[in-house]
Amino acid sequence: MLHAMRITAAVLSVAIGLVAGQISSDTSGPSGILGFNSGAFFPDDDETPKKKSDFLEEFEASQSLHGSPGLFNSVRLYTNVQWKTTSDPIEAFEAAIETNTTMLLGVWCSGTDSIESELTALQSALDSHGSSFADLVVGISVGSEDLYRISETGVENEAGTGTDAKAIAGFISDVRAAINGTLLEDKMVGHVDAWSAWGNSSNKAVVDAVDFVGVDLYPYYEKDKGNSFDNSTNVYDYIYGIAKDAAGDKPLWITETGYPVSGPTFGEAETSVQNAGAYWQNIGCDKLFGRENVWWYNLRDSNPANEEKFGITEDLDAANPVFNLTCAAGSGAPATINTEDSSANRFGTNSNVAMLVAIGVMGLMAVIG
Ligand SMILES: *[C@@H]1O[C@H](CO)[C@@H](O)[C@H](O)[C@H]1NC(C)=O
Ligand SMILES: *[C@@H]1O[C@H](CO)[C@@H](O)[C@H](O)[C@H]1NC(C)=O
Ligand SMILES: *[C@@H]1O[C@H](CO)[C@@H](O)[C@H](O)[C@H]1NC(C)=O
Ligand SMILES: *[C@@H]1O[C@H](CO)[C@@H](O)[C@H](O)[C@H]1NC(C)=O
Ligand SMILES: *[C@@H]1O[C@H](CO)[C@@H](O)[C@H](O)[C@H]1NC(C)=O
Repeated sequence: MLHAMRITAAVLSVAIGLVAGQISSDTSGPSGILGFNSGAFFPDDDETPKKKSDFLEEFEASQSLHGSPGLFNSVRLYTNVQWKTTSDPIEAFEAAIETNTTMLLGVWCSGTDSIESELTALQSALDSHGSSFADLVVGISVGSEDLYRISETGVENEAGTGTDAKAIAGFISDVRAAINGTLLEDKMVGHVDAWSAWGNSSNKAVVDAVDFVGVDLYPYYEKDKGNSFDNSTNVYDYIYGIAKDAAGDKPLWITETGYPVSGPTFGEAETSVQNAGAYWQNIGCDKLFGRENVWWYNLRDSNPANEEKFGITEDLDAANPVFNLTCAAGSGAPATINTEDSSANRFGTNSNVAMLVAIGVMGLMAVIG
């Protein structure tokens, strides 16, 4: 179960030593992508939109993390539209192009009966940047946890405005029609939701409509499932299994997972930097990194109004992640990179700049919804 106050809206292809994920050209899409989630605005009272420079700092920090198990060079976005504009492309696109960051695009689908502004922004980005933009797109998620928000538990948790399966399937058709004949026409189109929404047979129309199933997995929030930290791997396996079964032969992408570094006890789940670091090892290192497409939650912290903090860096200080990111030998994760001791990141800039924290669009919806 996702908690009401959770704020979630916010390829690996580089050869690393001898171990490398590859961009595969088969129909299941690339695999082993390593990335983080990124919301469209800061959680200050003004909901200050993230500018290109803010996204640049994020993407540079992501690739510069000290002791990183492979190169985190992908981002999952929640919207194509620059925050507080009608249909300007989100400035993350330009930052991604400058940093060679791949993108799982997001089309925001709740609280609206049209995704026209999302599609306008996407077309503008194609017009402006062409293949330098399109080549970095690994997929398009049509919606984010919309089905969860209208489920019994979502309503109970006051998770905000959602959208039903029929509407999501319709928006998926709209996206397919819009990208037809463009540089994006071969990209995988999918949807992101909670495991419980994918496991709900009422939502089968969405499973049928997608090329990939994006799932958000948080053992921390599973208070009905025996969610003490010691049992978190079992809970993960259980909820992952439900999503995997629901996806059938369609690729399952892990679009959000992570463990709070601080915040209240939820059910039996206690937060701590130590638990967050152990979750990174047990789930990230042992199961995911380099083997599945994963966008971890999260690089920088989420909404201050959210009691749970998920950030693995403070203020994007890539040289000093809050816990040791290096995966234990034999975990199966890609080889460690960024091992040098230095406060400068790979891009030669000081990453300890951003004083604001990230929030996703969904977080706003959760708060105001
Ligand atoms: C961009 O990253 C990809 C891996 O995602 C890599 O294959 C490619 O060489 C990089 N391009 C540049 C210009 O660094
Ligand atoms: C399953 O989905 C339907 C349709 O959205 C929803 O009404 C129902 O609450 C969901 N079931 C659960 C257990 O969440
Ligand atoms: C894409 O366009 C072609 C040619 O106009 C059409 O035959 C096809 O049905 C379209 N596909 C989609 C998914 O809209
Ligand atoms: C551990 O998690 C599994 C899966 O949710 C659950 O069936 C089991 O009861 C849990 N164990 C404990 C000791 O809570
Ligand atoms: C981080 O973890 C790795 C792998 O377990 C270990 O080799 C390394 O010494 C640790 N680094 C620190 C600073 O504890």
